[in-house]
Amino acid sequence: MADGDGGFAFHDLAPGEESFRDAVFSGLGRTPKMLPCKFFYDERGSALFEEICRLPEYYLTRTEIAILEHRAGAIAAQIGPHARLVELGSGASIKVRILLRALANPAAYVAVDISREWLREAAGELAADFPDLPVVAVCADYTRPFPLPPLPGPGGKRVGFFPGSTIGNFEPDAVVRFLRHCGELLGPGGEMLIGADLKKEPAILNAAYNDSAGKNAAFNRNLLNRINRELDGDIDVARFAHVAFYNEAAGRVELYLESRAAQSARIAGRRFDFAAGERIHTENSYKYSIDEFHALAVRAGFRPVDTWTDPDRLFSVHYLRQE
Ligand code: AVI
Repeated sequence: MADGDGGFAFHDLAPGEESFRDAVFSGLGRTPKMLPCKFFYDERGSALFEEICRLPEYYLTRTEIAILEHRAGAIAAQIGPHARLVELGSGASIKVRILLRALANPAAYVAVDISREWLREAAGELAADFPDLPVVAVCADYTRPFPLPPLPGPGGKRVGFFPGSTIGNFEPDAVVRFLRHCGELLGPGGEMLIGADLKKEPAILNAAYNDSAGKNAAFNRNLLNRINRELDGDIDVARFAHVAFYNEAAGRVELYLESRAAQSARIAGRRFDFAAGERIHTENSYKYSIDEFHALAVRAGFRPVDTWTDPDRLFSVHYLRQE
């Protein structure tokens, strides 16, 4: 594929999926109990997350989209012409369209996602909508180092795109490790555009994760339904409450599933006991001030060159350049 010719290429790096059963056994076997948030996203969980993104209380998605739309010109000026845009965790490839429409002659769009069929469909649709743009889909686990295939284009810069405040679901040290590996992936001169949720009034955060339609609760509880479906479990899901609150000292929203009574459950032939009030920690969603986020970027070898926010300072979009 040459610059400007369009086209679609699919590279399957055959990401090894961590066993759900091993993660459940180890997470429920420890004290305090936990389950990794990456397992939220089976088909049902992904659909529920999309519903969350449209909730009035969940300001993150619409605010980030508004920032990208308002600042598309300034972002495109930072990125410059002939860039190869690499989206990590591309999902439905919605937000990137705002950038692609604003960029001057982008040389390629590279969509990286672990979900093979979703990736094939979303990247294929984007290739059809941008017929002059070479589109490369890479099926890989972006949370671990992986090689990029040779990219089309005469050698414009590589820019990583990581929207949605997904970075907030990593622990701060993991953010630094992740950004370092993005730097290696993009190579010298590689730059990053990242969306991160900002610290704010706890009431706004608590409402975003405890919506009145109960979508966050259904999303959280779906993890137990998924265990029942996939691991032959008999968890009484109704006897677990969704608990989410902003922990101001830790700077994060914490999600738990709290056992409403003393109970036990069998999962893949093993028995697990839950005390009344015992919690399973299912997610952290870190909120960063602009300075805090910049400090993490600097630790990872990036220099923050521009940051855009909305008028209410709910969300931030950062442009980072490698030192
Ligand atoms: C994907 N991630 C940025 C969401 C968040 O806000 O941390 C996941 C989520 N958890 C509960 N609601 C949404």
